[in-house]
Amino acid sequence: MPPEPQHTNAEQPTAPYLEAVTAYGLRGSTRFHVPGHKGGGGADPGLHSALGSAALLLDVPQDIRGIDVGPSPTPYERAEQLAAQAYGASHCWFLTNGATQGNHALCLALAGLGKHVLMQRNSHASMIDGLVLSGGLPRFVAPEYDPELGMAHGVTPEALAAALAEGGPYAAAFIVSPTYYGMAADVEACAEVAHAAGVPLVVDCAWGSHFGFHADLPGSPLQLGADAMLASTHKIVGSLTQSAMLLAVDNGRLDLGAIARAVRLVRSTSPNSLLLASLDAARRQLAVHGELLLDRTIKVAARAREAIARIPGCAIVGEQWVGRPGIAAWDPLRIVIDVRQTGLTGYEVAGALQASYDIYVELATHSTVVLVLGMGQPVEPLDRVAHDLAETVKRTKPSRSAVAGLDLSVLTQPPAELPAEPAVSPREAFLGASEAVPVSAAIGRISTEAVAGYPPGVPTLLPGEMVTAEVVGYLKALVTAGARLHGAADPTFGTLRVLAR
Ligand SMILES: Cc1ncc(COP(=O)(O)O)c(C=O)c1O
Repeated sequence: MPPEPQHTNAEQPTAPYLEAVTAYGLRGSTRFHVPGHKGGGGADPGLHSALGSAALLLDVPQDIRGIDVGPSPTPYERAEQLAAQAYGASHCWFLTNGATQGNHALCLALAGLGKHVLMQRNSHASMIDGLVLSGGLPRFVAPEYDPELGMAHGVTPEALAAALAEGGPYAAAFIVSPTYYGMAADVEACAEVAHAAGVPLVVDCAWGSHFGFHADLPGSPLQLGADAMLASTHKIVGSLTQSAMLLAVDNGRLDLGAIARAVRLVRSTSPNSLLLASLDAARRQLAVHGELLLDRTIKVAARAREAIARIPGCAIVGEQWVGRPGIAAWDPLRIVIDVRQTGLTGYEVAGALQASYDIYVELATHSTVVLVLGMGQPVEPLDRVAHDLAETVKRTKPSRSAVAGLDLSVLTQPPAELPAEPAVSPREAFLGASEAVPVSAAIGRISTEAVAGYPPGVPTLLPGEMVTAEVVGYLKALVTAGARLHGAADPTFGTLRVLAR
């Protein structure tokens, strides 16, 4: 059993690291240490005006007594402990290079050289990069896929069980929940399936750092049985960009010492104190006021969703999708709008919102526009958005070329049958000598690139995989239809990098 989350103990309203950095930063000590701007006195005046003096005073290095040196637990150690308590974890590692750093560390710790791991096919690119660093060997589990909207969901417990039954033994299973669209997988059942096979379950919950902090939200992965999780707290919960948390349960399934070592390996020896302090502060706000802030945001979001659903041609993708394969719960802090019936693409709606109202959305695809809300979302812009969207849809004429250029039937085809395992490890493919060849000549060679069309956002090629005629044909069709190829060295898909012979 994981530790019970503690949101309301007497220490959660404190922020020990933030307070210690503030005390040192503001007391006027003489600084004969890095950073060279010396608390702002030596900084460029323009930077000084832009950031303000407090940010520069609080930009302090590691190893300052009273912050992260001194009797244990130091304020830094306390801050990580309080975050672990809030999420119901045994340990939390503060990350200053995002969830990306956490994925790299997890691969180094769990998917070492030649070890087999299960991995959701559309995991974040940092997972494949993690395998490039670690030398682990993936077996991929396909996510559920909705061809209508061109949207990938979570993996099902059944798909995970089927993959566990083949190959292995597996050192870990890595899944993603929720998706970019806020759809959460059945983490509880996935944990049961993985544990029955003796495999730890790691959930990339980058998009769900607020899960478990309000009754209307999906549960936190650790409380649903996962052994470790990532929380990109900067995405929703309000820490500064590039800060995140890796959380794990000490239940004997994972080597926490190996994870700690790996986190250090992929971390600078000069982690940014502003990022770390923002993690401490965001944890405090989440634990102490999160439920109330989330409650307000959820209620205003519901109002906005109702108003958006009344706009001719706009439909909401959300709660009613729960129960479809790969969707066990959803995140009300995401507003996913299906705009197909307006005659416009999501790209056109997003562009017009920007041009007319200076509104920037998180994501646009051919069929949808996705708004991401923060835990303490300002209410007024959210109350206004349905009006702005309605006016935008009314005024914007479909650009003939944009619509004609998008062959939706091609874009929404499920990706071609993809191999479960690469022919050579991602590490060998990435580090080996490679050459760019015309795509037709790449057939039968080993790709050194990861290429994913967006939509559907599921990688069609990963480093180490054999290039097939079917995959080349599919990617060519995507480019012709107007989809963007993520990760491709040549976005026009004229050439592809493959392992040199
Ligand atoms: C599922 C998932 N995991 C990890 C990451 C990386 O997170 P970060 O930007 O915090 O490094 C992202 C980024 O969007 C993501 O979507």
